[in-house]
Amino acid sequence: MDFIDLRSDTVTKPTPAMREAMARAEVGDDVYGEDPEVKRLEARMAALFGHEAALFCASGTMTNQIAIKVHTRPGDEVICDEGAHIYRYEGGGTMANSGCSVKLIAGDHGRFSAMQVNEALNDPNNPHLPRTRLVSVENTTNRGGGSIWDLGAVAAIRALCTAHGLALHMDGARIFNALAVDGSTPLHWGRLTDSISICLSKGLGAPVGSVLTGSASFIHEARRVRKRMGGGMRQAGILAAAGLHALEHHVARLSEDHARAQRIGAALHRLPFTESVLPVTTNIVIATLGAGLTADGLVAALKQHGILISSIGPQSVRFVTHLDVDDAAIDQVENALRSITA
Ligand SMILES: Cc1ncc(COP(=O)(O)O)c(C=O)c1O
Repeated sequence: MDFIDLRSDTVTKPTPAMREAMARAEVGDDVYGEDPEVKRLEARMAALFGHEAALFCASGTMTNQIAIKVHTRPGDEVICDEGAHIYRYEGGGTMANSGCSVKLIAGDHGRFSAMQVNEALNDPNNPHLPRTRLVSVENTTNRGGGSIWDLGAVAAIRALCTAHGLALHMDGARIFNALAVDGSTPLHWGRLTDSISICLSKGLGAPVGSVLTGSASFIHEARRVRKRMGGGMRQAGILAAAGLHALEHHVARLSEDHARAQRIGAALHRLPFTESVLPVTTNIVIATLGAGLTADGLVAALKQHGILISSIGPQSVRFVTHLDVDDAAIDQVENALRSITA
């Protein structure tokens, strides 16, 4: 059976046109700095976001972890939302790779204010406390249900970071989904941040890869950390070509994924077993179920209908739309949901 796979936007398969672009890729040894396709992708991403340089890596976890490592020293502290991917889902990397503690903010669907950051700062003159060194914002927020950050809110955090000598990182795994909603440009976000991690293998539909952008000196150091982590790839142009193809062909269509996510959100709202649905802004739909149906129960029931979703808590489920899900698939999801009784 061909499943309709809504567990994540990471499950997409390269399109025939993307595979052709990959097959045509001009390659060289990227550890020697000789892969033309990788260089093109890095230059393109840096220019798009207005940063001096960029680095192609294997995954969003790797780009985030390298950024944290370069921005901090062991014993420093990182501020982020309590649901942040860098804290929850990167295998304890912030602590293990960089030796940093984390100060968590209880945000609004993954977003927080400059005032909350201000409250989370440690006094640099108090030797008892870890030195606050980095703030990380996630756009769009994964656990926050794909919500997007307001430029003004990040500008206020930027000003605070500058005043206190802190670096500002953006986990932009789904930054292009955010851009599709609010009309902001990559340059707007580049101007406000010291580094951005951008995933090619989520909404953009490439099979592998993320790009880290930042200043030339930051990326110079990031390249060393990537090598140390075993992330130096050789003829990686085959993968970079998929990323370049995605930038060219898969950005404008993201709003289709958002419209389909809206349909799933609306369908869930109408069902008696749904307690609540987080506001749907981009391609992620998170719902909380009432007492009569568990998340695992809904996952199993939808699987019977050929639909895969994720359970993200005892009563919470997540649906993610993407390149490989069309309107007909959403019709099926709506029908299947209607047929389930708690
Ligand atoms: C917000 C966010 N950041 C980072 C990542 C990590 O990406 P990867 O799976 O490529 O390591 C993910 C993965 O889903 C994510 O949702």
